[in-house]
Amino acid sequence: MGVYSEKVEVEKVVTSFKERGLSIGFVPTMGALHQGHLALVENALANNDKVIVSVFVNPTQFNNLEDLEKYPRVLDEDVRLLEKLSSSIVVYAPTVEAVYADKVKAEKFDFDGLEFEMEGRFRDGHFDGVGTIIKRFFEIIRPDNAYFGEKDFQQLQIIKKLVDKKKIPVTIVGCPIYRESNGLAMSSRNVRLKPDYKKAAPFIFEILKAAKAQFGTKSANEVTVWVHAQFANHPLLKMEYFIIADEDTLKIVKRKSNKKAYRAFIAVYADDIRLIDNIALN
Ligand code: PAJ
Repeated sequence: MGVYSEKVEVEKVVTSFKERGLSIGFVPTMGALHQGHLALVENALANNDKVIVSVFVNPTQFNNLEDLEKYPRVLDEDVRLLEKLSSSIVVYAPTVEAVYADKVKAEKFDFDGLEFEMEGRFRDGHFDGVGTIIKRFFEIIRPDNAYFGEKDFQQLQIIKKLVDKKKIPVTIVGCPIYRESNGLAMSSRNVRLKPDYKKAAPFIFEILKAAKAQFGTKSANEVTVWVHAQFANHPLLKMEYFIIADEDTLKIVKRKSNKKAYRAFIAVYADDIRLIDNIALN
């Protein structure tokens, strides 16, 4: 399997794929791959001739230096997992210096307001960082299809907005959330959870499921108040936000309409580890 760190090498590989008329699926990741990532790769393999997986912990999307420093980096293990899946995969794992040279700085984007909701409220500049790196990778990899998880639903909507506004010729494919058997959404950060917190964390999805059940008969506000109460005295989990929003605009729902799709979004701290999750409500 090809593993490249230099942009020119990957560009050469991309050019050879294009010359041979092969379709390219792209799966951007920050590594520490788990089954959720691999499900995206399998989806890409099923629908493209070649798949390029990027592994890059992108500094400009971290608003917390400690989170960036502690983010797991296990490239050899990631390559081993991908090798087991298929020989049609190419890995692009550049260095921070190669991507940003001496200016580790994000571009500014206008995502029509999507960037100011939820994660954007709590992680200043996060989506400028995501937009910067994904736009650059799209320019290098020129994929036909690119795969993103609904785990980061706001990111998925923002990437759709990015390609729409910048007229980037790629199809964005959203993929369902992959969970542990106890319901906890898989995340590269889960490996850092201490045992007590790991045991407590499935509570997040339990509450999301209960919120979904209530949403049929209660207002968005009533459900939100109920969810806040469930976390108010939790000994280990600290809720940062819970929001019921319109899937397209990501704006909080005031009054329900049966023509729209709604989703509940949550961010919770388990110790110093920030976990996010969401669920479709209708
Ligand atoms: P990362 O957190 O590594 O996730 C890479 C991709 O895997 C994202 O599209 C994410 O939504 C998806 N993913 C993660 N956990 C998942 C799960 N449990 N089920 C389904 N999909 C899951 O998201 C990023 O990296 C970065 O922001 C990136 C897009 C690579 C830009 O730096």
